[in-house]
Amino acid sequence: MTKRIGVLLSGRGSNFEALAESVAAGRIPNAEIAIVISNREGAPGIDRAKTRGIATRVIPSKGLEREVYDRQVGAVLDEYKVDLICLAGYMRLLSPYFVAQFPNRILNIHPSLLPSFPGLESQRQALEYGVKFAGCTVHFVDENLDAGPIIVQAVVPVKDDDTEASLSERILKEEHRIYSEAVRIVLEGKYKIAGRRVLRVT
Ligand code: GAR
Repeated sequence: MTKRIGVLLSGRGSNFEALAESVAAGRIPNAEIAIVISNREGAPGIDRAKTRGIATRVIPSKGLEREVYDRQVGAVLDEYKVDLICLAGYMRLLSPYFVAQFPNRILNIHPSLLPSFPGLESQRQALEYGVKFAGCTVHFVDENLDAGPIIVQAVVPVKDDDTEASLSERILKEEHRIYSEAVRIVLEGKYKIAGRRVLRVT
């Protein structure tokens, strides 16, 4: 049966687009993106989804208490019978209510090798700290920021002449690759969670 993916985003939407490409190309088999939801008006990711003929919703979050807002989003995801939720540049912390509604069914992509550099401007944090290897992480989401069991990571070496922009660009390329890989693993059910470890099963 076709698995239905719901994407939550707040901005540009390049990770959404990479997922949509992978679905179209069969790299994520037996899946479709059923709905794209943004908490911000004018998010370019929403236009990208419309161009692809994917259903979209803008649900402005400004001024709403976290759980009140999350109930609205949850209702739309239920309406579209979503099996898996992918956060793709969704710049909001989820309420414990929302996380409990979708146990182990929410994934996030983050532009650092977690648990290093959670939060905002991770690429800048990595450069300023002076690490030699940066990267990105796809993980299951819990109610803490950029936490939850790690599904896939990719390493990106830092070059001496890197700027925040050049490093971010190389990390983003890897983000696009590993998000699809992680979604495929999860939708195929070829994993088990042991404590914090996500182990592959064949
Ligand atoms: C991506 O780099 C993603 O990893 C990051 O926001 C960017 C969104 O870009 N997410 C986080 O920092 C989550 N804590 P996109 O809108 O082009 O996918």
